[in-house]
Amino acid sequence: VTAEKAGFDHFMLKEIHEQPKAYRDTMMSRITEDGKSVELKELGMTAEFIKSIRKVHIVACGTAYHAGLVGKTVIESLVRIPVETDVASEYRYRSPIITPDTLVIVVSQSGETADTLAALREAQRNGARVLAITNVVGSSIAREADHVLITWAGLEIAVASTKAYTSQLVAFYLFGLHLAGTIGAQEASFIEEVITSMKQLPEQVESILEQSAVLKQVAESISHHKHLFFIGRGVDYAVAQEGSLKLKEISYIHSEAYAAGELKHGTLALIEDGIPVIALVTQEELYEKTLSNIKEVKARGAHVLGIANAGTEEEVAKSVDELFAIPKTLPLLSPALSVVPLQLISYYASLALEHDVDKPRNLAKSVTVE
Ligand code: G6P
Repeated sequence: VTAEKAGFDHFMLKEIHEQPKAYRDTMMSRITEDGKSVELKELGMTAEFIKSIRKVHIVACGTAYHAGLVGKTVIESLVRIPVETDVASEYRYRSPIITPDTLVIVVSQSGETADTLAALREAQRNGARVLAITNVVGSSIAREADHVLITWAGLEIAVASTKAYTSQLVAFYLFGLHLAGTIGAQEASFIEEVITSMKQLPEQVESILEQSAVLKQVAESISHHKHLFFIGRGVDYAVAQEGSLKLKEISYIHSEAYAAGELKHGTLALIEDGIPVIALVTQEELYEKTLSNIKEVKARGAHVLGIANAGTEEEVAKSVDELFAIPKTLPLLSPALSVVPLQLISYYASLALEHDVDKPRNLAKSVTVE
């Protein structure tokens, strides 16, 4: 078993470190040699069908759902097609409005989650085509979907998903660019710029992993707390939700993820002296607003860790107690980097509390009951 962990103490840590490879494996074969476009012939999705899509539903559970939240922003901003997101266990029961020009995207690491499979079947019953983003070739979801985009993250063993989530983000970037290229929704130069930035992600993740020691310290101080908050706006809010789930899953510390601007409408009442708040501040256009939300929690005694882009860190540092800088990338791509420090904080918090990191209580890697 030690050998399978390749020298790492836990599968989760190994899988966190496999993310640069998972990024390369998921993206490189889909980017044309000239680095100018994304080609997803494997989808078997005709240009005619792509041009007919009027709305998208993204349906998934758990961490895969959080990837879908980022996917919504990716698709809406790249192609301006409206996207709704649902957790799979809710989707069927709200009578979603599914029409033949709806593309339903289901996201599932295992490809076996019962709720997600049921949502796929419901979508098909209503005449929609389903694209599955999954990590397992030949899984039930891969077999039943009309179109499949495999995330090449490799086998994921730890219950808390890391490399599968980040590979799902890459899958959304690829699919969004493929749609944009097919529809002509973006300038060719912009598509090329996104691709160039995507290719830098693996090395940028490496540089975050090299700073694990500081994140371990942050995690150790967090491990003494019973509650904490994650805040952010836009895709930072989506990443905050994933960071909060990761922490709950393996450290059992209660946390909530809040849209930074919504905190003041209720949850701010819970902020008291010394409470840790992890604030994601990577979206430059929302930056001033998020900083003012950070001031609101600081004024009530919160201890704030900011996660910001290299280049803005000096400015953000003035408003927070501690700062972790992620390498500079395009705003849309920042989740692919900003989630990595959150994964490491969860891992080290679980370790500090001596929990079973890879097999947390009450949870299963894949849930095949509804
Ligand atoms: C389980 C796992 C989660 C996972 C969710 C969806 O609850 O513990 O980590 O995110 O299922 O799994 P899937 O395989 O569909 O991505």
